[in-house]
Amino acid sequence: MSTNTVDNKKKVTTARFTEMKQRGEKIAMITAYDYTVASLMDDAGIDAILIGDSASNVMLGNETTIPITLDEMITFAKGVAKGAKRALVVCDLPFGSYQGNPMVALQSAVRVLKESGAEAVKIEGGEEIADTVRTLVKAGIPVMGHLGLTPQSINVFGTYGVRAKEDAEAKKLIDDAKLLQELGCFSVVLEKIPADLARKVSEKLSIPTIGIGAGNGTDGQVLVWQDMLGMNRGFSPKFLRRYADLATVITDAVSAYVGDVKSTDFPNENEQY
Ligand code: KIV
Repeated sequence: MSTNTVDNKKKVTTARFTEMKQRGEKIAMITAYDYTVASLMDDAGIDAILIGDSASNVMLGNETTIPITLDEMITFAKGVAKGAKRALVVCDLPFGSYQGNPMVALQSAVRVLKESGAEAVKIEGGEEIADTVRTLVKAGIPVMGHLGLTPQSINVFGTYGVRAKEDAEAKKLIDDAKLLQELGCFSVVLEKIPADLARKVSEKLSIPTIGIGAGNGTDGQVLVWQDMLGMNRGFSPKFLRRYADLATVITDAVSAYVGDVKSTDFPNENEQY
């Protein structure tokens, strides 16, 4: 069990992210997609909440993050932004809402911030999206980068395996991370890359890195909440630590409820008017 050193009341901002890296305080980030869960995460002292486009998988049942739309992301983000009082709220821009055209990206990011109340956006890629990052940062929109396994590129990668194991890809990742920092990103997610590489990148950057499946050398960690609380029974990658078994808690509780309704035990005389 770790000790929570953060001031539990002070609002987390992008500037505070940098301060946390400077003083060596790890950043704890998690996903959420609705008001109730975001409120619980915020009460528990989480530093940042990501409305990840993993909502495509865990909320909408899609196999990839490709189908989720900007409107759907904004709907999820609206609830999260209301629930998160202290945590920094970051929303993914979904596939198709920013690639290729910085002005389209600007419109998408402006919609996210104006309509949902999220405070920053996350986008996937390095040098390929440099113009987009520059445009968003210039417009006053905080940008979190995302390198390594970038799930919106699944149709190029072909698998969700570990990235940047070979020298050429590792070198590109280091160059991309430095570029994202130069362009003004306040932080960068490193997903599913070798731990040594993630540590090296984190040491080279002054902005914080947030890892998922990237070892202990990053400046923070992020997990999908359904995965870390044991809601997805079939999903158990090596990097995942399960902190609860909510799948069992929920199915046991619902099955007890079904039994109580069928047997007419629920509601009893204290549970009626
Ligand atoms: O969509 C998501 O949840 C993410 C995290 C896994 C980093 O991008």
